[in-house]
Amino acid sequence: GFVFLQGLLVCTAYNVHHYSFITMLTINGGFPGPTIHVRKGNRAYVNVHNEASYGVTIHWHGVKQPRNSWSDGLESITQCPIKPGKNFTYEVIFSDEEGTLWWHAHSDWTRATVHGAFVILLEANTTYPFPKPAAEQVLILGEWFKGDVKEIIDNATATGADPTLSDAYTINGQPGFPNNCSTDTSYKLTVEYGKTYLLRLVNAVMNEEMFFGIAKHNFTVVAHDGAYIKPVTTSYIMITQGQTMDILLTANQSPTILQYTGNYTLPSSIPYPTLPNVTDQDAADNFTTRIRSLASAKHPINVPENITTQIFILVSVNQILCANASCGGPNGNRLAARLNNGSFVTHPLIYYKHTTGNVGNNTLYPSQGTKARLINYGEAVEIVFQGTNVGNAENHPMHLHGFSFYLVGTGYGNFNATSSPSTYNLNDPPEVNTIGVPKNGWVTIRFFANNPGVWFMHCHLERHASWGMDTVLIVKNGTTAETSILTPPANLPTCS
Ligand code: C2O
Ligand code: CU
Repeated sequence: GFVFLQGLLVCTAYNVHHYSFITMLTINGGFPGPTIHVRKGNRAYVNVHNEASYGVTIHWHGVKQPRNSWSDGLESITQCPIKPGKNFTYEVIFSDEEGTLWWHAHSDWTRATVHGAFVILLEANTTYPFPKPAAEQVLILGEWFKGDVKEIIDNATATGADPTLSDAYTINGQPGFPNNCSTDTSYKLTVEYGKTYLLRLVNAVMNEEMFFGIAKHNFTVVAHDGAYIKPVTTSYIMITQGQTMDILLTANQSPTILQYTGNYTLPSSIPYPTLPNVTDQDAADNFTTRIRSLASAKHPINVPENITTQIFILVSVNQILCANASCGGPNGNRLAARLNNGSFVTHPLIYYKHTTGNVGNNTLYPSQGTKARLINYGEAVEIVFQGTNVGNAENHPMHLHGFSFYLVGTGYGNFNATSSPSTYNLNDPPEVNTIGVPKNGWVTIRFFANNPGVWFMHCHLERHASWGMDTVLIVKNGTTAETSILTPPANLPTCS
């Protein structure tokens, strides 16, 4: 039997397969790039040789990189880009991550086509906290652009316009569901009746949260953002930009689609998965609120209880006045996204990229105009993100480098310092690296600042990140060598 997988949208009116004359930045000629297998707690050395005509960096999304933000791959913050013709070897240090993570370029919008999965293999003599699957498959939800993404975005940015969105969604670089324009190129997953498969999903889409379902099948989510969770059986998932989810699919339905090699006509009655409407926030919440950490003896959690650093961040997108009229946009204004401080913080966390220019070249401290937050080593940190209804309100997938954090609470409306904390889950909150902040609601996250270094925090909705919905947390060194940042690699790309 065969199962077709579907993202939300399939393709536009042209045939992806026959659209061959575009420039596309790829890794090793592939889209998506290669899956990297690494054993839990090991490290990977990835030599990146840049053959593009512009600088690039690569980031290892969700890998904690203890004491090693040098290899975090943040363009202009932790390193300068790898120049055309040059190379740099990243040392990617895994610690307690399990399941699936991913890697992507982190310079402008190059991550649109430069990304791939990390499959984290079990440690020797250990087993999954679920029945062993018959086989496994990485599924990357991505996008297709009818041109070079950097060009498209540079053009949009130059005019102050809302950057063009992509032209189609893809699964592993191919159209998701057979349709007039994509019958011969749709992504197909071959499964054998009665067997159970582990599907490792990555949402590499630039600007959209995705619902994902499989026609006629329920499946079970067992891991999320590189940590195991209590199994959630569902007919669909909602996966936010940048997140990963591992799901178990048992092929136990009567086969509904037959797939033939060569010339074939698709039956007229291919079942589509029943997915919620794209704007169905309740359906999204109904799924996400079911996610809980596994929190078992073998997979323990470590949620801070006595908070020593509390940060309140207002997350919103506004029109702001440009510092000079030349920045483009209607009426000299343009869209901006912000992370702004509220009553709890002493340091503002505002960074408008387009008014301050690039972040700057210093590899340890962000340059003037970028305000970072310094945090002492070992602090028990709580961050409350408050979304708003202002302007172009959307959910914001907030992502923090260098950490996983616990999602201890969420709600609609305004965060209330008195009543909201009483709803917190400190027993088995999900441990994630990216969390959707509702446009008119709040989320509270917690983590221990036990990873000294320079860590980017930003909205993983690419438009918003480009508009400045970014900041940097700098965790200071502790008092010992083991709690201090590693020495920088000798060949870290320079800016000159
Ligand atoms: Cu997926 Cu700043 O990264
Ligand atoms: Cu956002």
